[in-house]
Amino acid sequence: MKQFLFGAVSAIGVGAAAGFALIQSGSLDFAADAPHAAGITQLVAWAREQSIAKRARDIVPPADLASAERIRRGAGNYEAMCAACHLAPGVEDSEIRKGLYPIPSRLAQAEAKAAETGGDSRRFWIIKHGIKGSGMPAWAQGGMDDAAIWDLTAFLKILPQLTAAEYQARVAASPGHSHAGMAQPARPDDHGGHAHSGHAHSH
Ligand code: HEC
Repeated sequence: MKQFLFGAVSAIGVGAAAGFALIQSGSLDFAADAPHAAGITQLVAWAREQSIAKRARDIVPPADLASAERIRRGAGNYEAMCAACHLAPGVEDSEIRKGLYPIPSRLAQAEAKAAETGGDSRRFWIIKHGIKGSGMPAWAQGGMDDAAIWDLTAFLKILPQLTAAEYQARVAASPGHSHAGMAQPARPDDHGGHAHSGHAHSH
């Protein structure tokens, strides 16, 4: 028994030393354009989902989640704060999304079906707290209140059913562009004014 324990402890020690040496040598690649090995991706996804499931378990969605008013408010906020990464109906891809790792899901596409991506409480938790080590921000840190996060959650439910034209109409009809629910002062309307227009990148 003693020998077994000694063996087990040394094996752990050797493993830890090897791990330390690997990190210390700088061999691990932190580049966003160098994907994890398949096993690591699955391990991280499993750990993430276990963690979120535990934390989202006791969150109860508001009774009026499906209300037209919530969906209307959520549409503009989605366009203003989420579409650059998660895209919108009729939008193929974005510069930001292409470069992120892990790559944000296409929340507007049918394959991002609610069953696969979990329930409303899970989405609420993710929007509120973000996901560590990924591009997904904790929106509550930026000043978004719970009501506005539920509005977004409500909008996400109908998003996969919208055509590009329906999406645009809902965004236009929404007060969300004013960043409702955000504690920060409204910024000047800078839509379309990106220095970026034309995508004439020279780098
Ligand atoms: C800068 C890019 C970025 C922005 C902006 C962003 N997200 Fe995300 N989001 C991500 C990334 C990256 C992930 C995936 C993280 C992962 O896989 O670990 C994610 C994950 C999610 C998920 C979980 C999707 C799933 O797989 O089930 C939801 C829901 C979500 N975001 C909603 C939103 C909403 C709503 C907004 C706007 C308020 C938003 N996100 C803004 C990058 C972004």
